[in-house]
Amino acid sequence: MKIERVSTGIKKLDELLRGGIPKKFFVAVTGEPGTGKTILCLHFIAKGLEEGEPGIYITTEESRESIIRQAMQFGWNFYEEMSRENLIIVDALMREERDEWCLRRLTIDELIALVIKAKKKFGYTHARLVIDSMSAFWLDKPAMARKYSYQVKRTLSKWNFTILVTSQYAVTTSDAFGFGIEHVADGIIRLRRYIRGGVLRRFLIIEKMRQTNHDLRMWEIQISEEHGLELVKPIEMRKEDIALPSKVIKKIVEAKRRKEEEI
Ligand SMILES: Nc1ncnc2c1ncn2[C@@H]1O[C@H](COP(=O)(O)OP(=O)(O)OP(=O)(O)O)[C@@H](O)[C@H]1O
Ligand SMILES: [Mg+2]
Repeated sequence: MKIERVSTGIKKLDELLRGGIPKKFFVAVTGEPGTGKTILCLHFIAKGLEEGEPGIYITTEESRESIIRQAMQFGWNFYEEMSRENLIIVDALMREERDEWCLRRLTIDELIALVIKAKKKFGYTHARLVIDSMSAFWLDKPAMARKYSYQVKRTLSKWNFTILVTSQYAVTTSDAFGFGIEHVADGIIRLRRYIRGGVLRRFLIIEKMRQTNHDLRMWEIQISEEHGLELVKPIEMRKEDIALPSKVIKKIVEAKRRKEEEI
C-alpha cells in the first residue's frame, strides 16, 4: 500500500524520509535551545500554505509577533495568510484577554479545545498543526509527558491533521531519556548542537519514523535567510563525541527516577 506523505518544506529532509512525513502522523521535533526546532516547524507550516493546506501554530514560548517576525526573515508572510484565514497562530505566551486565539491557561484540555475550535473554521480538509512547545505543558510535572502526549495524539487523530510538536532537551544525555513523548510519537526528528573548535554546529537525525524506511545518518544543518534550515552533509560521529561520560548519565537517570517517584 502506498503511504500518503506530507512534505516538511525542507527538500533534503523529505528525501531522507523517502518523500515526507506519512500523513496524519504525530511527530516530535526534539532538541536543545536554539537548535532550529521552531524554524523547522515554520518550514512545515509555510509549505502547507503554499500547497493550499491551512495551518494552526500554537506558540508557548514566543509571542505570535515573534513567530511572524521570524517567518518574515525567511520570506513567509504569515500576516497575509492570517488575514486570508489560512493560518491561525494561537498565542499561549501573552494571554491577552480580548484575543480570541489566545490560550489563557497552559492546560492540555484548553489546548485541545482551542485547536478543535480552530480546525472547525477550516472544515474537513487536511490541515497542519504545530505545537511549539509541548514540553511547556509539563514543565512542572515531567512525569505527565507521556500521558499528555497520548491525550493530544488520540483526541486530535480524528481531526485530519498532520502534527509536529516540539520538545526540549535540557542536557545532552545521548540516549538516556527513555520516557515521555518519544514513545507516543509516530516519529522523532532530533536536533542537536555541539561546540567544536569554538564554533556552534547544529545537526539533525531522524531517530524514528513508523511505517517507513528512512535515512539513519546524522546531518549537519545550516540556517540562513536565503534558504532557511538546510541539511548540508552527513557526518560521522562517535558516541564518545556526543554523550556525557557514563557516570554523569547514570547520576542524571537516577535523579530523574527519584523525582518521578516523588511525584
Ligand atoms: N535570520 C536568520 N538567519 C540565520 N540564522 C538565524 C536566523 N534566525 C534565526 N537563526 C538561527 O536560528 C536559531 C534559532 O532557531 P530556533 O528558534 O528554531 O531554535 P529552537 O530550537 O526553536 O530554540 P528554543 O528551544 O529556544 O525555542 C538562532 O539561535 C539563530 O542561530
Ligand atoms: Mg523554539
